[in-house]
Amino acid sequence: MAVTAVVGAQWGDEGKGRIVDYLAQRADMVIRFQGGDNAGHTVVNDYGKFALHLVPSGIFNPATQCIIGTGAVVNFDVLSAELAGLSEAGIDVGNLIVDCRAHVILPFHRQLDGAEEASRAEGWEVGTTKRGIGPVYADKAHRQGIRTGDILDPKRLRICLQMLLPVKNRELAYYGLPEVTVDELMAHCARWRNEMGDRIVDALPLIRNAVREGKQVVLEGQLGVMRDLDWGIYPYTTSSSPTAGGGCVGAGVPPRAVDHVLGIVKAYSTSVGGGPFPTELTGEIGEKLREVGEEYGATTGRPRRCGWFDGVAIGYASWLNGFTSIAVTKLDILDEFEELQICTGYRLGDKTLDYVPETAIQEQVEPIYETWPGWLSDTSHVRTWNDLPDKAQAYINRIEELAGAPVRFISVGPERDQIVVL
Ligand code: GDP
Ligand code: IMO
Ligand code: MG
Repeated sequence: MAVTAVVGAQWGDEGKGRIVDYLAQRADMVIRFQGGDNAGHTVVNDYGKFALHLVPSGIFNPATQCIIGTGAVVNFDVLSAELAGLSEAGIDVGNLIVDCRAHVILPFHRQLDGAEEASRAEGWEVGTTKRGIGPVYADKAHRQGIRTGDILDPKRLRICLQMLLPVKNRELAYYGLPEVTVDELMAHCARWRNEMGDRIVDALPLIRNAVREGKQVVLEGQLGVMRDLDWGIYPYTTSSSPTAGGGCVGAGVPPRAVDHVLGIVKAYSTSVGGGPFPTELTGEIGEKLREVGEEYGATTGRPRRCGWFDGVAIGYASWLNGFTSIAVTKLDILDEFEELQICTGYRLGDKTLDYVPETAIQEQVEPIYETWPGWLSDTSHVRTWNDLPDKAQAYINRIEELAGAPVRFISVGPERDQIVVL
């Protein structure tokens, strides 16, 4: 396995958490390299069912060093609650550290996220998770953010807050929100320092040593490439890069050290939030996918938009990430469909596109489908390729072809052992 980047190949919620949990049984280190508590990574294993927001999905193996990496953003209140919940369930959370360069989500970031969304033109809402992700990454890019390491040093922290708050208070006032004071935020940070200060370290020497020693390191992405800040459906994107390249930057691993890029590919498509979604099914079939697939947001509970598999988007994801293999998840959800469609191109007027165009053009495309027969049998008990129905094999072979990377895993249920390894 060596260094494996595990990345979402679609619009998020592909099943990254469950695959990282599976790989982490043999991983020495798992690094969450971007995003914050906008994530909802569901893991079902012997300990129970968990929706992880910030904690890396390797936490269930006590021998795995879990790191919230430099590229991530941290809401310490959420982290604290999440760690308490895991501890209560009997999970050893002693191995979780936070890199000192990761940025801190402060309470006003969340408020601004909500207010900014509310002020967008109708139909142009990003549909954010309102976790403060956009505002905190904006402060980071503005070089005025607060880093986790800053909260360990009250003198430095006070100066940083004194520089930041006049600007933030003007923004808050613009949206009619109450102003915040340096003392108030110093108090929050003091509490976080007391509770979690020991976990805040410079993780890079540990990461460098692990990679140099050939340890099994997993880079865990949040979201999918279609919501990448650069390559996703801007502006309906998140504010960081969930790609393998983003993994190198956010974790602190050079590109040449990444041995495998595992794309997580749901057997159909889902998307939460705004923006174009060419294969969306708004009728009965979409409803059936949502109900059978239990497609409701793990963080916000919002119903996910559902649609057929988009082969154009997968080709795009594969190029941008350089998949060396893929994991196809939720195959079992298609067990009861007589017929399946796979999108292999986009129609734009009299042209056919075999690539994902930028957002404004994407909003105008119509999917071109090919039809595949359903297998109409229960795959949830299948554990080997040969035991999969022929029609399911054919469907997966087509996904593999469109992804241009070999299928390494097929998951047929949410439990850790409901997986076919090829
Ligand atoms: P993530 O954000 O990429 O980690 O994915 P989510 O956890 O948000 O969404 C995936 C959902 O599908 C979760 O509820 C998982 O428990 C569930 N899941 C994952 N793999 C499978 C599978 O193969 N079959 C079924 N039925 N459910 C799965
Ligand atoms: P996981 O890790 C699905 C979507 C939001 C919104 C856009 C920006 O579970 O795949 P943000 O809060 O990041 O500013 O929202 O991205 N979004 C997700 N959709 N799964 C997620 O996480 C998501 N995190 C953010 O709906 O459209
Ligand atoms: Mg999710």
